[in-house]
Amino acid sequence: MSAQTHEISSNTPAGVPDDLLTWVNGVAELTKPDSIYWCDGSLAERDRLYQEMVDSGTLIKLNSTKRPNSYLARSAPSDVARVEARTFICSQNPEDAGPTNNWADPVEMKDTLAKLFDGSMRGRTLYVVPFSMGPLGGDISKLGIEITDSPYVVVNMRIMTRMGAAALDAIKKGEYWVPAVHSVGYPLRDAEGHDRPDLVWPCSEDKYITHFPETREIWSYGSGYGGNALLGKKCYALRIASVLARDEGWLAEHMLILKITSPKGQVYHLSAAFPSACGKTNLAMLRPTIPGWKVETIGDDIAWMRPGKDGRLYAINPESGFFGVAPGTSTKTNPTALAALDHDTIFTNVALTDDGDIWWEGMTDEPPAHLIDWEGNEWTPDSGRVAAHPNSRFTVRADQASSIAPEWEDPAGVPVDVILFGGRRASNVPLISESYDWEHGVFVGATVSSEQTAAAEGAVGALRRDPFAMLPFCGYNMADYWAHWLKMGKVLGDSAPRIFQVNWFRKSEDGKYLWPGFGDNSRPIEWALRRVAGEVEADDAISGRLPKPGDLNVDGLEISEDELTALFALDSDAWAKEADLTEEYFAQFGRKLPTELTDQLSSLRDRIAKAW
Ligand code: GTP
Ligand code: SPV
Ligand code: MN
Repeated sequence: MSAQTHEISSNTPAGVPDDLLTWVNGVAELTKPDSIYWCDGSLAERDRLYQEMVDSGTLIKLNSTKRPNSYLARSAPSDVARVEARTFICSQNPEDAGPTNNWADPVEMKDTLAKLFDGSMRGRTLYVVPFSMGPLGGDISKLGIEITDSPYVVVNMRIMTRMGAAALDAIKKGEYWVPAVHSVGYPLRDAEGHDRPDLVWPCSEDKYITHFPETREIWSYGSGYGGNALLGKKCYALRIASVLARDEGWLAEHMLILKITSPKGQVYHLSAAFPSACGKTNLAMLRPTIPGWKVETIGDDIAWMRPGKDGRLYAINPESGFFGVAPGTSTKTNPTALAALDHDTIFTNVALTDDGDIWWEGMTDEPPAHLIDWEGNEWTPDSGRVAAHPNSRFTVRADQASSIAPEWEDPAGVPVDVILFGGRRASNVPLISESYDWEHGVFVGATVSSEQTAAAEGAVGALRRDPFAMLPFCGYNMADYWAHWLKMGKVLGDSAPRIFQVNWFRKSEDGKYLWPGFGDNSRPIEWALRRVAGEVEADDAISGRLPKPGDLNVDGLEISEDELTALFALDSDAWAKEADLTEEYFAQFGRKLPTELTDQLSSLRDRIAKAW
């Protein structure tokens, strides 16, 4: 060890490889923590961290009869969601980040980070968190190490990833791993040795979520929340992994994964890309309202997909937990999720009831008469503000969901039959339509627009392009990413999954949702699977192929003919405008835009012209 670090106590395990030790010591020299703690992932370690955070006020232990082993954390009001404006892709060439990412020069960013991280852990413990994304040892799985000064991050990483000694053992054997450094940016001592008290939720006004795709590193500063801080999730499993996937011939996607069994016993797998807070967790735990169908969960947020030996596309869920949106989760919308949260759950930014339980908007029809809101203030139903933050979340192990599929941890993954692209669209986009072929499917994915949600900073409700639901998560040039998808289509050939576009969020002129959604989303999915099975014909239309009248199963559903017509209505004028906007949108990618997508835009315009 170097002269500067020998005073820092550390429980370094035996057999840690030199490169890893050098890296950890280097980060410790820079950040100057009081101690280094290597996490083993044990229950004893978890419980000790929970207790320390309860003692310091970072966690509130919930009523252990009502919700055993569960905790509530309240973040700083300035640290409640991903910060897309502070998220950077630091490639040598700005073109490799592309027009949809914030680019920064890697050398300059390293310089900025060196200043920010200098002494950023003074007075704190530096935790070394080894983890595996995907089942340990699986062919599609990958390892990482997050260094963090946040015990809240450690206990969340323990739920969200396979964290601890087993991951470190694999790294000791020389397996590839990605380094990720995180600091909340609130040191407890300054360079002169003056102490200051800790905060319940320490963070910094200055935030940097940075990715170095060429050297495959992650550095995150200033935030303790979600995707900003749990670096295995968006930073690794999407932004860095999308780069690895491009180079190695696979796909890292913002997708849920489902196993679906038909009444005849036929098993299908579906993956679906919806933007943040647009219904992936809900669909992942779908309870079909049509008889005979069974749906089981593989994943709710991220899919890593690779061509298998038989030529089909195999998907794993690289995560081991759900970091799900709390508001709106109820016995009506997602009974499976609600039941999964009965115990061993970390809640962040939800409201606290008088009996030490939790509540959020939409959990019950009637709100409780009194609560403590997510900011720790007294709350009553006439307070005129929400009790839970719109991006409040739960962290829970995936296998606490009763819907979890037995093969959710199969390292080989599951073969994907169907891919869905969706978003929040009040108009224009029909309930479901099938892409004409893979290239059309890539065009549909590339042109997804959606109304913005509270999952990131910004104007909620504003319509924005969110291609493949990857706008904030693609680690390289979006146009190159589309080219990679087109290439994967060629690799997969006839074994490629069939691609559909869905929209659960279409509204009537008086602003009401036309489709009941949730469990009834099994109906359009049934139609998609019947298409795959070759059981039904379809009608060619502007956006793709639509169900023939009568083919969408609406048995037992209270929906009028007019509403059904409105759900599938395609207005030529509106689509012509969409096509013009797409042309403008594509223009920013210049010569990188794959010609296949320009051709698809022409085909779309031909279909619009024919429909007039
Ligand atoms: P991230 O975790 O942010 O990536 O998001 P997610 O896609 O997993 O989001 P989630 O499933 O938690 O989305 C929650 C929001 O979508 C809530 O506001 C739900 O009420 C709403 N939602 C989910 N499914 C439906 C549906 O079928 N219809 C309607 N109208 N709303 C839905
Ligand atoms: C999302 O925003 O898509 C999430 C939540 O899944 S976070 O992990 O905070 O990115
Ligand atoms: Mn997500």
